[in-house]
Amino acid sequence: MASKSKILFIGGTGYIGKYIVEASARSGHPTLVLVRNSTLTSPSRATTIENFKNLGVQFLLVRISFSLKRFWFNDDLLLSLLGHQYKIISAIKEAGNVKRFFPSEFGNDVDRVYTVEPAKSAYATKAKLRRAIEAEGIPYTYVSCNFFAGYFLPTLAQPGATSAPRDKVIVLGDGNPKAVFNKEEDIGTYTINAVDDPRTLNKILYVRPPMNTYSFNDLVSLWENKIGKTLERIYVPEEQILKQIIESSPPLNVMLSLCHCVFVKGGHTSFEIEPSFGVEASELYPHVKYTTVDEFLNQYV
Ligand SMILES: NC(=O)c1ccc[n+]([C@@H]2O[C@H](COP(=O)([O-])OP(=O)(O)OC[C@H]3O[C@@H](n4cnc5c(N)ncnc54)[C@H](OP(=O)(O)O)[C@@H]3O)[C@@H](O)[C@H]2O)c1
Repeated sequence: MASKSKILFIGGTGYIGKYIVEASARSGHPTLVLVRNSTLTSPSRATTIENFKNLGVQFLLVRISFSLKRFWFNDDLLLSLLGHQYKIISAIKEAGNVKRFFPSEFGNDVDRVYTVEPAKSAYATKAKLRRAIEAEGIPYTYVSCNFFAGYFLPTLAQPGATSAPRDKVIVLGDGNPKAVFNKEEDIGTYTINAVDDPRTLNKILYVRPPMNTYSFNDLVSLWENKIGKTLERIYVPEEQILKQIIESSPPLNVMLSLCHCVFVKGGHTSFEIEPSFGVEASELYPHVKYTTVDEFLNQYV
């Protein structure tokens, strides 16, 4: 059996990073995480650090501005979950032997979405990084995993809510475009399956499993069936959403602009995945038993 690549993580202690680091260590990849000293001693990261230690993850103390070269060995992969990543491009060039780079994407396909501010600028930053990676000839995989289930499903994507709706539900637009929700552990599993896979080299890995792809109307119907109640659906026209985005402050305007992109403009599914640029994770890895949206929602009933 081919040996598993060593994976070096930057930003591995963050929200999605911890799931991917754990998937890496569990599947037998030598797993290294670059961390700041303050992270190792931070109470908010204590459980994550403890879990990593128990899984045999190695820690490398570093400031991101330092050269990565001294941590580098042949045939390593680099997986980043940082917000600002431009320094990493020069570090990768300096190291010279990065087998594959997974930049901090983990959302929509930023080249195939219609967005308004403030999401627009965030997506433009990610798109700019893609162009820099491609211009440098760095081998890459962009993971487009769509919505994190744990972020959006506990409230059924109701902006500002703390639990799922029981009486009324806000539906942005007509509720018909399809969105995709994936459990964070499954995103970790699919990402790690892709790291040594030649089929994902210089491609976008879309995590778009059929059982996790729902129109908002169908998502509400699924929830109604679970709670045994019909909700009052309040449909919000696009013009009203755009006005609300302009008039609201962070984080509400950010959340609304992301939801506008996905639920009104169909940002997850408005395009076909063409073999020239992408592959779909549940097709590539049919052995992965992913958690469906239907199963995921049961915990909130
Ligand atoms: N699809 C979705 O639903 C969804 C939702 C949210 C985010 N995302 C995307 O997922 C990706 C990761 O986001 P996240 O929410 O997981 O990020 P996060 O929780 O903010 O974690 C960021 C990581 O980067 C580290 N970090 C930040 N600044 C650093 C610095 N200057 N030096 C060293 N390390 C630094 C943090 O370290 P510490 O542990 O020390 O803080 C942490 O490990 C982003 O591209 C984001 O857009 C997608």
